[in-house]
Amino acid sequence: MRNLDEDTITQAVLARHTGAADPRLREVMTSLVQHLHAFARDIRLTEEEWFAGIRFLTEVGHITDDKRQEFILLSDTLGLSMLVTALNNRKPRECTESTVFGPFHVEGAPEYPLGADVANGARGEPCFVRGRVLGLDGAPVPNAELQVWQADADGRYDVQYAGDHGHRARGTLHADAEGHFHFKSIRAEAYPIPHDGPVGRMLDALGRHPWRPAHLHFMITAPGFERLITHVFRDGDRYLDSDAVFGVRRSLIADWVEHPPGPTPDGGISEVPYYTLDFDFVLNPERTA
Ligand SMILES: [Fe+2]
Repeated sequence: MRNLDEDTITQAVLARHTGAADPRLREVMTSLVQHLHAFARDIRLTEEEWFAGIRFLTEVGHITDDKRQEFILLSDTLGLSMLVTALNNRKPRECTESTVFGPFHVEGAPEYPLGADVANGARGEPCFVRGRVLGLDGAPVPNAELQVWQADADGRYDVQYAGDHGHRARGTLHADAEGHFHFKSIRAEAYPIPHDGPVGRMLDALGRHPWRPAHLHFMITAPGFERLITHVFRDGDRYLDSDAVFGVRRSLIADWVEHPPGPTPDGGISEVPYYTLDFDFVLNPERTA
């Protein structure tokens, strides 16, 4: 166990893990150490580069708090989040595809009745969203819980504004017994992921832009079905083919239909142009062990 060198260090570390009580932890750490060491050998990591990496991860930690999740941004921009999503969400083609969770979900968003305006003062062009939650057989999934969240006209989520202003452009709703849901919000807009921190500097150094195509987030849960975490993307967005976090799926792109000022689906009158989005979600039955 002395005089370990570049050829023997890997096996020496792995030998220390034989006492791990959790076999899955041992498997994960064995593979992680093997890949980390192989990576360092492969690129002949210099001491300066090793230190730059430590400094970078330290900065990612320092900027992270309960509202800013730089580690998720890092995972997202390296494609790891989408890879994990893809690995864990293999399901029948007819099901709505999953995509990345992202860093802007908030626990405890207010519950709204169907038809309510979840924008709650967020700036943006009015948009009426409606659809159904269905099972694989096309039958309605009754009373599914839908959590929705999105950026405003300036491409920012409520949590990116300073001060306590309550929840805006996010909420929790329940579909009715026939699986129908509808609510009012604002038109989704493209936005850059927060790029004033270490992940932004990384993207810049790599010659990458930080933009995500316009989208509306959904998390849908119902007893007997797998939880669905996904977005609906706005067709025509210039960033659909270069999403900074690799989350776009063709089946999740939909038309935000523009309407002139006039009568709106909620029975009101809009004095400005407004949009409608129709999208149905198909849930996968829960796997039974
Ligand atoms: Fe988002």
